[in-house]
Amino acid sequence: PHVAVVLGTRPEIIKMAPVLAELERRALPVTLVHTGQHYSEELDAVFFDQLSVREPDHQLGVGSASHGEQTAAILEGVEDVLEAESPDVVLVHGDTNSTLGGALATAKLAPLLGHVEAGLRSYDRSMPEEVNRVLTDHAAEFLFAPTEDAAAELAREGLDDRSHVTGNTIVDSVYAFRDLAAEHSTVLDEFGLEPGAFDLLTAHRAENTDDHERFAGLLRGVGEWAERSGRPVVYPIHPRAEAALDEAGIEVPDGVRLVEPTDFLDFLRLESEAALVFTDSGGVQEETCILGTPCVTLRYNTERPETAFVGANCVAGVAPEEILEGAETMDGKTGDWDVPFGDGKAAERIVDVLVAAFE
Ligand code: UD1
Ligand code: UDP
Repeated sequence: PHVAVVLGTRPEIIKMAPVLAELERRALPVTLVHTGQHYSEELDAVFFDQLSVREPDHQLGVGSASHGEQTAAILEGVEDVLEAESPDVVLVHGDTNSTLGGALATAKLAPLLGHVEAGLRSYDRSMPEEVNRVLTDHAAEFLFAPTEDAAAELAREGLDDRSHVTGNTIVDSVYAFRDLAAEHSTVLDEFGLEPGAFDLLTAHRAENTDDHERFAGLLRGVGEWAERSGRPVVYPIHPRAEAALDEAGIEVPDGVRLVEPTDFLDFLRLESEAALVFTDSGGVQEETCILGTPCVTLRYNTERPETAFVGANCVAGVAPEEILEGAETMDGKTGDWDVPFGDGKAAERIVDVLVAAFE
């Protein structure tokens, strides 16, 4: 089949890279569409370079806007590409506005839609990601569930006949790059960090950063933890969070060190060598679980409950006392849990399903 791949944000580039590599390995015709939802060098080009993802065939250049405006621009742009290229299948990934825009454009035209990382549910409809993933699952023909739990969620919604458990492609990416990161990343030296003697933070989700009181509390909690543990907390800050800091004039506590977002190898190295990781990111909950680093999730729910079931993650909340309690619970845990996201061959299984469907 001729496969079009639509992506637009940092996590989509990282998690679709293995699928693109596998499509290429089998010499299938591919059309790569970049929506342009992420465009800053450090959220975009860096990952194309480092993960050897080829130049997109179409750059929609939609940029930042409100949900409606951004999703509509993606829908329109992807529709034009599909009409010009006539692919047999369109693949989207995850839960961003690029995912939903790509899914809606596809569902209105002839190609079949495949959703990579299907079946994740936080059951929190106030999150834009939850709306995006539920709607995309219901529009898709091929649902690539990363785990049995995700497939069970799909079955609850009557979608079992379209679902395939493949593992999560993040395992493919982490396995492909973690040794390279250990060999080549010099990030610890650059930041003056000793393995095991620092913690890592990422926080970028709209519900945490756009509520300035909540964001200030989150930073206060992590800052108090830095004081208590005596370890600095390194925070590669996403542009959305940086904008919120500027806008609200929030003071960052002493123990929290802001740095620019890092590339993938440096980030894997930081995650591997941190004593503890604080995050509201989906991908970071998965990666810490894979790499054996304990994680404290700064949210009240997760669509990755497997990480908590195996003991790798504590869904702590965002109030300072909740963060401290979560950190105390997870600090010092040895990462010998089972990895619930598959064996690193998710991309192979996804492409197998597509090829079989067109035989
Ligand atoms: C998006 C996804 C989120 C995902 C995240 C990955 C949606 C609804 N949200 O959130 O699920 O976890 O990507 O990182 O799709 N900005 C830049 N440079 C860029 C892109 C954005 O400076 O390249 C700034 C702009 O000020 C923009 C803000 O970040 O307004 C938010 O960007 P947006 O794409 O709307 O959402 P993310 O927070 O990146
Ligand atoms: N990441 C990175 N550099 C950073 C922060 C994150 O390379 O400074 C990578 C990380 O390894 C993971 C992905 O970005 O694979 C997670 O993306 P993000 O948190 O933006 O989105 P989410 O997973 O929450 O959708």
